[in-house]
Amino acid sequence: MVSNPSPAVPEYCDAPVRMFALVAVLWGIVGMLVGVIIAAQLTWPELNFGIPWLSYGRLRPLHTNAVIFAFGGSALFATSYHVVQRTCQTRLFMPRLAMFTFWGWQLVIVAAAISLPLGMTQAKEYAELEWPIDLLIAVVWVAYAVVFFGTIGKRKVSHIYVANWFFGAYIITIALLHIVNSAAIPVSLTKSYSAYAGVQDAMVQWWYGHNAVGFFLTAGFLGMMYYYIPKQAGRPVYSYRLSIVHFWALIFTYMWAGPHHLHYTALPDWAQSVGMVFSLVLLAPSWGGMINGIMTLSGAWHKLRDDPILKFLIVSLSFYGMSTFEGPMMSIKTVNALSHYTDWTIGHVHSGALGWVGLITMGSLYYLIPRMYGRTQMYSMRAIELHFWIATIGIVLYIAAMWIAGVMQGLMWRAVNADGTLVYSFVESVKATYPFYAIRLGGGLLYLSGMLIMAWNVLMTIRSGKVVSAPIPLVAAHA
Ligand code: HEM
Ligand code: HEM
Repeated sequence: MVSNPSPAVPEYCDAPVRMFALVAVLWGIVGMLVGVIIAAQLTWPELNFGIPWLSYGRLRPLHTNAVIFAFGGSALFATSYHVVQRTCQTRLFMPRLAMFTFWGWQLVIVAAAISLPLGMTQAKEYAELEWPIDLLIAVVWVAYAVVFFGTIGKRKVSHIYVANWFFGAYIITIALLHIVNSAAIPVSLTKSYSAYAGVQDAMVQWWYGHNAVGFFLTAGFLGMMYYYIPKQAGRPVYSYRLSIVHFWALIFTYMWAGPHHLHYTALPDWAQSVGMVFSLVLLAPSWGGMINGIMTLSGAWHKLRDDPILKFLIVSLSFYGMSTFEGPMMSIKTVNALSHYTDWTIGHVHSGALGWVGLITMGSLYYLIPRMYGRTQMYSMRAIELHFWIATIGIVLYIAAMWIAGVMQGLMWRAVNADGTLVYSFVESVKATYPFYAIRLGGGLLYLSGMLIMAWNVLMTIRSGKVVSAPIPLVAAHA
């Protein structure tokens, strides 16, 4: 670390920020590569080569865990540690503990990358990892909370900037969700059974699952939005008051929407309806947040024309708006009767995952990484522009293919002849889906190529820059 050039600004602890940011890029490539492999396997199933640990059923959870927890998680650690120091004008609380969270989280990722292909699983979506890894996650997460809230506790400004509210809610809620949903009875080192049974088990799982979307894939990334968009745009956030309403409305509403994953199941009908109503209500706070982010650019729209990082950040919000409109529609029982079990859900997931989570992360890392290496911008801005367009075209191909495939599947499965027999056999719907799987694979390959361009750009930035721990003063995000 170099010494602090100005005594007025504290010397920040940026080693964990740098390390998490770099592994986020690495894990992004790994996770998306596995995504491309499983997309190819859905098109050509023989690509598992008859090897069990290359089978679709084992690689799929590897993909979801890698992209959500390794890529998304590392990016969230990096940005939350970066943002909390700048907005609290203080150094990280317990820097060694922050380094422990880095190595602990990497250990979780490596353990997942070994155990999932070996077929070890708790069979709960997004919570597949077996109990010893779950315990490690809990320890790392508590350490994360100590570092984050400890830093807030020793802040030099009285105000707690709204990005920290979102990061804080994500950290607390993920701890709660993880501990409750992972409760299990171990029978050996590699096998355990859920502490819950039957429909209670399903409800706990989807209370977890939906809030993993709401707090891991949404609240944390909204923390990024509230810091990096104002910074990159050089303007204060559009409405601070709206951000507070956005925060409370979003976290209150998300908690109740989980049952929309269990429509037409053994879950009591009233509980399904509660899930549907709260999902519909969720449209309002989601769009409030999106509007707050996008309107931060008001009066400076021209910047969008030639700043590729702003393009990433603002287009991510358009996808956020799209997927949070689509989600409430899919939660309506009659719509869900068509969409459930089809590729429409996969299209919805990836408009949120690739469009919102992916793009906001890339935009934030493009802001963050050069500043961690003593440069004001990335090595090549043209490469960022290229990445943006490749990724956007990739997303459009992916989600459009899945929407068409999904609606087609839903309609084919419910089509009946006058005598009540099915018009189509299942395999006919699989055959009709084939071209769309090929298009999705193309979209995924483009998105992955964009990530490779990013990795090259990051490497070149590091090679030509130098490590710094002091901040580069820019326009204050918290006006
Ligand atoms: C190159 C990019 C990607 C490709 C090609 C890809 C491909 C896939 C495929 C083929 C599936 C399985 C679909 C099925 O079961 O029918 C899947 C599932 C999933 N992917 Fe991706 N993916 C990519 C990136 C991402 C990213 C960046 C995220 C999250 C940040 C993500 C999150 C998920 C989730 C949550 C599921 C499970 C969906 C569900 O169960 O409904 N993916 N992906
Ligand atoms: C207002 C916000 C949202 C609502 C109300 C909502 C609602 C829904 C609904 C109804 C489903 C289909 C459930 C089923 O038929 O099984 C679903 C699936 C899913 N959504 Fe959303 N969604 C929202 C936003 C998002 C966002 C922003 C993301 C990603 C960043 C996302 C990720 C997912 C995932 C991963 C699944 C698949 C879960 C699974 O079956 O494995 N959602 N969502």
